[in-house]
Amino acid sequence: MKKTNLNPFTFGNPVEGDYYLPMPGLEATVSGFLENRIHVVLIGPRRFGKTSFALNLLRDLEKQGHYTCIFIDIFNITSHKDFLQQMLRALKLKSSFFKTVLNTIPKLRPKVSAEVDPHTGGASFALALDKTSSEKDTKELIQDVLAGFEKLGEKVIIAIDEFQKITEINDQGWLEATLRTHMQQLRNTAFLFTGSRKSIIYDMLNNQARPLYRSCQPIEFPSFGEEFVDWIIKRFASVRIDCEAKAIKHLMRLVQDTPNYVQMICFHLVAEGKKNITVKEVENTLDTVVKQNAYAYQTLLNSLTLTQQRALRLAAKEGKDVFRKELLEKYEIASAPALASSIKSLKEKGILDEHATGRGTVIFDDPLFVFWFKNCF
Ligand SMILES: Nc1ncnc2c1ncn2[C@@H]1O[C@H](COP(=O)(O)OP(=O)(O)O)[C@@H](O)[C@H]1O
Ligand SMILES: [Mg+2]
Repeated sequence: MKKTNLNPFTFGNPVEGDYYLPMPGLEATVSGFLENRIHVVLIGPRRFGKTSFALNLLRDLEKQGHYTCIFIDIFNITSHKDFLQQMLRALKLKSSFFKTVLNTIPKLRPKVSAEVDPHTGGASFALALDKTSSEKDTKELIQDVLAGFEKLGEKVIIAIDEFQKITEINDQGWLEATLRTHMQQLRNTAFLFTGSRKSIIYDMLNNQARPLYRSCQPIEFPSFGEEFVDWIIKRFASVRIDCEAKAIKHLMRLVQDTPNYVQMICFHLVAEGKKNITVKEVENTLDTVVKQNAYAYQTLLNSLTLTQQRALRLAAKEGKDVFRKELLEKYEIASAPALASSIKSLKEKGILDEHATGRGTVIFDDPLFVFWFKNCF
């Protein structure tokens, strides 16, 4: 066989196949709920593998033959039109189903045109939501498409990735409420949501005043344990690199168990041509990678107010009980409300999140950023 130079590690995008370590326990739990039409929300930090997990689960369930699965990514939506567009894009990937849905929604027809794909010659569909179509039209279409899921098959699973995004559209909760209505009405459909903004999601599910109150089973996305260490060592071995278990355990601690960063550092170790991975090698490579990112981190810091920067410093160094009086003094923050408002802004920027249960416990979105930040002060 021809020897290839393929790096056994990858990062940044959802993974599958050899690059994906299956999570059978979680698969069993989640599919058990979905089979019984209990909607599930998977909550976990970014870059932990939620998207990869959802895609692999849907693929497995479809292979079993009983399910029709649709995966909708709404990470970058800014409006109802975007949301509709992403739903239709997900449906388009299943063109036979797309036609079914189109046929049930006559209003959608004039807005969709068949296009010939220049590469394959096959027909694909383009959605020409013209700029004139009104917000009212868009809302009606969203409802029609959601209702159309009923026609997709006997058992349907709709996954919505990064679903807390629906709360960021300024619509007084219309989309949230609309989703809830269809979650109840669609007798054949179970929803699988994933999200990374813990505090937002817990409020959506636990606040009685909100439409999704107690509508889903929340599941904390677990972090990997020893099995991940073994898997990483095997991946190194597949390209004849020796690796100490100790080194990977150490790496996992340093990056707060984030699989993305474990794979990223391992990718660099392979690329650098290392043959023997030790704790020292891991530390050096992590250091190099963090230094390469310094410019981006610096830019981010510079975009913050002074109080926000101090709040970050406090959060990075202390983490818990951040509202303690002596901490406010130590980090030169005027008052508890001033800190609270800084933390709120930092949450909105996606830099920090607050622990759902314990107020005053903050978590950084990006463990490499904390690593850099701690080294600076
Ligand atoms: N099950 C897994 N096995 C191995 N690596 C994983 C796994 N899940 C995630 N990763 C690593 O994390 C990265 C990000 O995964 P992704 O699914 O995009 O995370 P999220 O959706 O939580 O942000 C992947 O590129 C990969 O390096
Ligand atoms: Mg994701």
